[in-house]
Amino acid sequence: MSELTLITGSTLGGAEYVGDHLADFLEREGVTVNVINEGEITDVTAASSLLLVTSTHGAGDYPDNLAPMMAALKFSTPDLSALKYAVIAIGDSSYDTFCGAGIQADELLKGLGAQTIVPRLEIDILEHPLPEEAAESWLSQNKSAFCE
Ligand SMILES: Cc1cc2nc3c(=O)[nH]c(=O)nc-3n(C[C@H](O)[C@H](O)[C@H](O)COP(=O)(O)O)c2cc1C
Repeated sequence: MSELTLITGSTLGGAEYVGDHLADFLEREGVTVNVINEGEITDVTAASSLLLVTSTHGAGDYPDNLAPMMAALKFSTPDLSALKYAVIAIGDSSYDTFCGAGIQADELLKGLGAQTIVPRLEIDILEHPLPEEAAESWLSQNKSAFCE
């Protein structure tokens, strides 16, 4: 895969920073990364490979910059069987709805037929105050899946 769409869902900027960090990593590996911080449904339907990096807010809810895109996907149920994707979910395990947004997004994309590249990564910020480090370590372990 030489091109990747990377969509972030972030309220306080942490997940966005993780997305930028991973994009830099992948670009160094020769992948062209299109980072999008206000995703729209057409960004997903036009993509061949998607990495979604999202934190969770409210009570298991999507961040505001991701919620409209996810609602549009849920409403219009496009066929995503040509899409390969992975999800990085960032959350705080002191919430009952730990990583709820990433879990919902993963289930929705799978339900629309998209193919998982690598199983979802859940990062607990209580364990990983610098979530970009856990994300980079996961990405380097799964590099071949993203850089083939
Ligand atoms: C108001 C609020 C609600 C939150 N709700 C959840 C939640 O339901 N589940 C969870 O896993 N984390 C929750 N978190 C933790 C955030 O997901 C976590 O702090 C994350 O690192 C924030 O990322 P961001 O900087 O990209 O917004 C919440 C944080 C705040 C401030």
